[in-house]
Amino acid sequence: MTDPRDPLGLRADAPLLDGWLASTDAADRGALTPMCTPGHKQRHDLTGAVVAGDTPLYGGVDTIKHADTLLADAESRAARLWGADWCRFSVAGSTHGNQALALAVGSPGQEVIVTRCLHRSLLLGLVLAGLRPVWVLPERDADSGLPGAVAVRTVRSALADHPGACAVFLGDPSYVGTTGDLAGHADAAHQAGVPLIVDAAWAAYLGFHPDLPPHAIAAGADGMVTSAHKTLPAATQGALVFARTQLLDRARLDRAFEATHTTSPAGAITASIDAARALLAKDGKQLCARLLHLVATARRRLAEVPGVAVLDGPGVDPAKLVVLLAGAGADGYAVEADLIAAGMPVELGDRDMIIPIVTLADTEDTVARFCDTLAASVERRRGPARRPEPSPAWSVVPQMAIPPREAFFSPNETVPAGAAVGRISAELVAPYPPGIPVLAPGEVITGDALAALRTARAQGGRIAYAADPSLATFQVITRA
Ligand SMILES: Cc1ncc(COP(=O)(O)O)c(C=O)c1O
Repeated sequence: MTDPRDPLGLRADAPLLDGWLASTDAADRGALTPMCTPGHKQRHDLTGAVVAGDTPLYGGVDTIKHADTLLADAESRAARLWGADWCRFSVAGSTHGNQALALAVGSPGQEVIVTRCLHRSLLLGLVLAGLRPVWVLPERDADSGLPGAVAVRTVRSALADHPGACAVFLGDPSYVGTTGDLAGHADAAHQAGVPLIVDAAWAAYLGFHPDLPPHAIAAGADGMVTSAHKTLPAATQGALVFARTQLLDRARLDRAFEATHTTSPAGAITASIDAARALLAKDGKQLCARLLHLVATARRRLAEVPGVAVLDGPGVDPAKLVVLLAGAGADGYAVEADLIAAGMPVELGDRDMIIPIVTLADTEDTVARFCDTLAASVERRRGPARRPEPSPAWSVVPQMAIPPREAFFSPNETVPAGAAVGRISAELVAPYPPGIPVLAPGEVITGDALAALRTARAQGGRIAYAADPSLATFQVITRA
């Protein structure tokens, strides 16, 4: 008989899911009198339903002394499925995964080749690890202004100029789904004797269908981070961190991972990563085939709306839907507001672009309703076609004055924006989404960066992480 709590029968191949189901079932039956955390003791009459299903990995999914055995079993099943030597489940997102890999590759003061289109989590990873970035810039599409991949020749040349670099860190696919030659990057890195690490936060499904690009590990990368919660049916915060251990050391990877991970991982998050892995192992190809069909249908439908374009073609993840609005003259912030009002929040809306996330959990119906709602909103908001004005996040040309870690710990002061131009930023400032820093600690605040941030804010974007999100003042390094 089908268990409604495990409708696809995944628990037989998912040790953490099995433990979570058993533990929460016992709690629901009143068969537990826990004398350990969590403090809600499985009562739902205090803080209420918000704690339902919450059981810790240690002392819930299994005993405090035994749960690590289940965890290791689940992680090694994931390592096998992705063809990696090492895998860890994080309950702190790709944020933690990026930082763990930054802590695993080198020692403070060493250089590392890094895309400047990096997520802020990796930038903070460089601060934690004390690595000094050698920035490489992605190619950009001249018409849309959107980022492509970093070219292999760019990485080769950076490696040649910086023979002491300890690793190459790239983000692939990019936030807008553009993908590059990861096998070429792996060759370039390996010829220089260093590992290639890839932040694939947005594309945990890669490699599970022949029409999808291979995932980074299959393409030859040594490390890969991906958010199970972003595109797989896993709980928020769940992420997977993978490595091969030819150029990376297993014990060091474990130390780096544990350094900033909680000692109290949520059972539901870890079990949901395990369940998502079991689902991919069972039905990955068929689910990805449907995902590809849904995205292809949505692309065709939306490209029929006059003035609207979708990213498509070689070098674009076929499971990513990126809708470009400049040709229809519609304001993406207004379209996003219409979508939210219709109960369809999207991942990114800026003036010229809407990025919904379509996943294995979508259906013909959800995607058709989304396309109809988006098309109707564009009709209501239609205006004269304009040139796209891409987010400043995609076009940063940094002027690094001092390494991020040094800047992070330097004495700083707050100055009015006008006086900040030409000074060194103490803070990280990023329009969010996509969370790519326009200003990183240690970079010179240029007039261009200030103008671009002000434009993003004036258009309705959220400026994140700045001490003063109004951009009236900036925190700068105090002059010696
Ligand atoms: C490229 C990239 N890497 C890492 C992250 C962090 O992921 P998480 O939210 O799972 O911590 C994000 C989040 O949006 C991202 O865009």
